[in-house]
Amino acid sequence: MSRVLAVALLALVLCSPVLASQADPILKLPSDRYGTYFNWEDDEGLASTRWAVLIAGSSGFSNYRHQADVCHAYQTLKKGGLKDENIIVFMYDDIANSEDNPRPGIIINHPEGEDVYAGVPKDYVGGDVTVDNLFAVLLGNRSALSGGSGKVVDSGPNDHIFIYYSDHGGPGVLGMPTLPYLYAIDLIEVLKKKHASQSYKSMVFYLEACESGSIFEGLLPKHLNIYATTAANADESSWGTYCPGDLLGPPPEYYTCLGDLYSVSWMEDSDVHNLRTETLKQQYNLVKTRTAAHGLYTFGSHVMQYGDPNLGAELLYSYMGSNPANDNVSFVDFNSLPSFSRAVNQRDADLVYFWNKFQRSPEGSRKKHESQKQMFDVIAHRVHVDNSMEAIGKLLFGSDQSLETLRTVRPAGQPLVDDWDCLKSMVRTFETYCGSLSQYGMRHMRSLANICNAGINKERMHVVSAQACERIPPNPWSSIHSGFSA
Ligand SMILES: *[C@@H]1O[C@H](CO)[C@@H](O)[C@H](O)[C@H]1NC(C)=O
Ligand SMILES: *[C@@H]1O[C@H](CO)[C@@H](O)[C@H](O)[C@H]1NC(C)=O
Repeated sequence: MSRVLAVALLALVLCSPVLASQADPILKLPSDRYGTYFNWEDDEGLASTRWAVLIAGSSGFSNYRHQADVCHAYQTLKKGGLKDENIIVFMYDDIANSEDNPRPGIIINHPEGEDVYAGVPKDYVGGDVTVDNLFAVLLGNRSALSGGSGKVVDSGPNDHIFIYYSDHGGPGVLGMPTLPYLYAIDLIEVLKKKHASQSYKSMVFYLEACESGSIFEGLLPKHLNIYATTAANADESSWGTYCPGDLLGPPPEYYTCLGDLYSVSWMEDSDVHNLRTETLKQQYNLVKTRTAAHGLYTFGSHVMQYGDPNLGAELLYSYMGSNPANDNVSFVDFNSLPSFSRAVNQRDADLVYFWNKFQRSPEGSRKKHESQKQMFDVIAHRVHVDNSMEAIGKLLFGSDQSLETLRTVRPAGQPLVDDWDCLKSMVRTFETYCGSLSQYGMRHMRSLANICNAGINKERMHVVSAQACERIPPNPWSSIHSGFSA
């Protein structure tokens, strides 16, 4: 078969789900010649490699779900045919062997799910899960790495890159198990650099976090050949799922949520379909429906898309490969996916965990005592952070205007803040006087951004923060978690 004909046939097969399912079985995709999906020819007949970077940005058993999501994503891609050398995993790796894990050495991402931990490469674990290492990996810059396996995205101009990140976040920031956290503007700069180095053809970014839309809103240009979807818009929580108390909850010995709603929605979809016939846009629509919790949004969020919308027409196969076991399952736009009674707000999932642990631990046990203290600390920390922010707002804008000014959401298409250095500086000042924002406090990033947007200068913020936080009872986490600023 001549090359031109092969390419033409491939284009037909890839572009037409109907044809693909009725294709003559003798007609093989060119990729089959390699006996592997590692090197395949894309729709222009060029050899291409699929790369994936998977990041769980949290640690601790109360955040079980983020690492479970990332392990599951690895299994999905592995079954799709990606090679370990092209999948780079960031996870703190404190779950499987945690003393809280009811099934030692095993991680599940579904109530009846099998182990997703086995075989996951430990590229960047523990203290090596950092923003700097993530950026070095994305840019393919080995000399900028510190620790870890040394694997980087060593991609060429015809390669496809898939990035998946699951964690807590807040307006303009994503969490990391180590400090500092990741600021949206720095991520966007790295993506622009990667694009300028002409080392990919197109990229897909799936992001699960609270306010994840704010990472790309008004920031991700269309011309970078990047298609991003996020679990939530710029101004809402994302949701954990398979949580204690759900209709479809975890096995009784688990106190923690097993997954996140947007994340399990895309993975459970990718696990059952022939990804040679399903487009990114089709998956976006399915995930959007499921994550919206039946359009009610009571326990769900608005899945968003950013970047180059034209890429939505591409096949998932280009990024995730496809499990040969699903070869005969064409994409059907059905909503037969399990329905969910209730999910848990990302920010409350730790409370749900400590509460369940407390309730189910025997009277007088160390666990009971520990979980009670953890719960009280979490609540005291929340109250402290909320009160501090409120007091600062009142001093800056007066009681009448304060709430409205701090909570202003800019119109769609505008970034959270224009001056990101100002935002970083406001965070540092807040933490200097009021203690760590930490995981929960990320929700106040919008207030700090709006302080910048209102033109408040750094000196004024220093004075006001000192004044406000002098009077607030101390932050129980200040000594445990150092500040999150860069
Ligand atoms: C790689 O990282 C090092 C250390 O941060 C830096 O000096 C160098 O310029 C980077 N190389 C490229 C090609 O960006
Ligand atoms: C798909 O269908 C073909 C033709 O009926 C069959 O030979 C093949 O084994 C099936 N593949 C799978 C994975 O079920």
